Amino acid sequence: MDVLISVFVGLHIIGIASLLGGFLTQMKAMSAGTARFVPAMLHGALTMLVTGVLLVGFREMDGGHVNNIKIGVKLAVLFVILALVYVKRDEEHVEKALFGAVGALTVINIFIAVLWH
Ligand code: HEM
Repeated sequence: MDVLISVFVGLHIIGIASLLGGFLTQMKAMSAGTARFVPAMLHGALTMLVTGVLLVGFREMDGGHVNNIKIGVKLAVLFVILALVYVKRDEEHVEKALFGAVGALTVINIFIAVLWH
C-alpha cells in the first residue's frame, strides 16, 4: 500500500506540473490579455481530482486518516479551477483577471497542501 500511495503522490505531482506548467507558459500572453486555457491545464486539473480522491481512499484503506477539512478545502478550490478551465476551454482569449485567478488558486492549493498539517 505504501508503494501504491507513493506512486499516486507522484501522479498527483505530475498533475500539478501540468496545471501550473500550462499556466506558466501563458503568463506573457496573460499580460497582453491573449492567454488561453491550454489542454495541459484541463488535463492537469482532472488528474489532480482523480489522483487526490484515490489517495484519500488508499490512506483510509491503509487504516490511516486524512485531514478532512484540509482535503475539503483543496477539493473546493480545485472545483473552482476545474469549472473555470472547463467552461472556458475553447475560448481563444481569456480575460487577464480570470486567467490570473486560476493561477493564483493553483498556487494557493499547493501551499495549503504543504503548509497545513
Ligand atoms: C490543485 C489542486 C491540488 C494541489 C495543488 C495539490 C497538491 C498536493 C501536494 C503538493 C501534495 C503532497 C504534499 C502532501 O502530502 O500534503 C498533495 C498530497 C495529497 N493530496 Fe493533493 N492537491 C490538490 C488537490 C487534491 C484533491 C482535490 C484531493 C482530494 C480530493 C487531494 C488529496 C491529497 C491527498 C490525500 C494527499 C496526501 C497523500 C499522502 O497521504 O501522503 N489533493 N497534494
